[in-house]
Amino acid sequence: MCRVLAVSNQKGGVGKTTTCVNLGIGLAREGKKVLLVEADAQGSMAVSLGIAEPDELDVTLVNILEKVINDEEVEAGEGIIHHEEGIDFIPANIELAGLETSLVNVMSREMVLRQYLDKIKDQYQYIIIDCMPSLGMITINALVAADYVLIPVEAAYLPVKGLQQLIKTIGKVHRKLNPSLSIMGILLTKVDRRTNFARDISEQIRKVYGDKIHIFSNCIPMSVRAAETSAEGKSIYLHDPKGIVIRLILTRLNIVILTAVIRIIMRQSYLIQSYQGTGWQLPKRM
Ligand SMILES: Nc1ncnc2c1ncn2[C@@H]1O[C@H](COP(=O)(O)OP(=O)(O)O)[C@@H](O)[C@H]1O
Ligand SMILES: [Mg+2]
Repeated sequence: MCRVLAVSNQKGGVGKTTTCVNLGIGLAREGKKVLLVEADAQGSMAVSLGIAEPDELDVTLVNILEKVINDEEVEAGEGIIHHEEGIDFIPANIELAGLETSLVNVMSREMVLRQYLDKIKDQYQYIIIDCMPSLGMITINALVAADYVLIPVEAAYLPVKGLQQLIKTIGKVHRKLNPSLSIMGILLTKVDRRTNFARDISEQIRKVYGDKIHIFSNCIPMSVRAAETSAEGKSIYLHDPKGIVIRLILTRLNIVILTAVIRIIMRQSYLIQSYQGTGWQLPKRM
């Protein structure tokens, strides 16, 4: 069975791409078949995976989605790149921004990515979608295609407004387009353990959202090594095999997988449990 996970937060620079890449490669190292999909015109996942100039790629997610829109056949393996660290990935580039604009006139425009992923799902155990920093139509496509949303939140500022907007959007997609969507949890990233500020923010988020949304107890620390991986085109596992980030990410990974599996077995989700009948009421204050 394939689980599709969208990693989303409309704020840029919170660690979405870094989380996708390291989570994906972490799962591959545990023997899972993993596909990473870049749903971001910036192409930073492609860069993180060693493609220096994503804008020069011949085939990207854009070509695949265009074919789906035009009812053309997507050939097996088309646009899918095999990475030396054991994952497959579909890169994107600046052309995705153009596609997003042209989606306005497309029939079932929210379903395009889902239609494609449904066809290749049986080849993977995990598909992880790296969302762009916006709540536009491509992100909606990712949420419609996903079973779970993982929300990385940078523990560096008070993200109330942005988070509420994101949760509202996820709620809408859940109600109107994809009833099986649930929030896997909030993952605090770039936590600078030396400052009280990071701790205060973590505590605030737990206080306000903790009873409705799962907040992973481990968080990703601020680490130069993690930042370096983006530029190196390697995962943290190759770049810093003995470091603190890898240990925490590995723990995180296991918790993420376990939580997902338990939830599937119990046939329940935080989203459905917490918001059923309440019309997605949001926390009133931060
Ligand atoms: N744990 C971390 N510690 C320090 N820097 C990080 C960490 N995670 C990511 N970064 C850096 O922060 C920047 C933004 O991360 P990225 O994953 O691209 O965020 P997003 O995809 O949300 O825009 C990148 O330069 C990345 O290398
Ligand atoms: Mg990114």
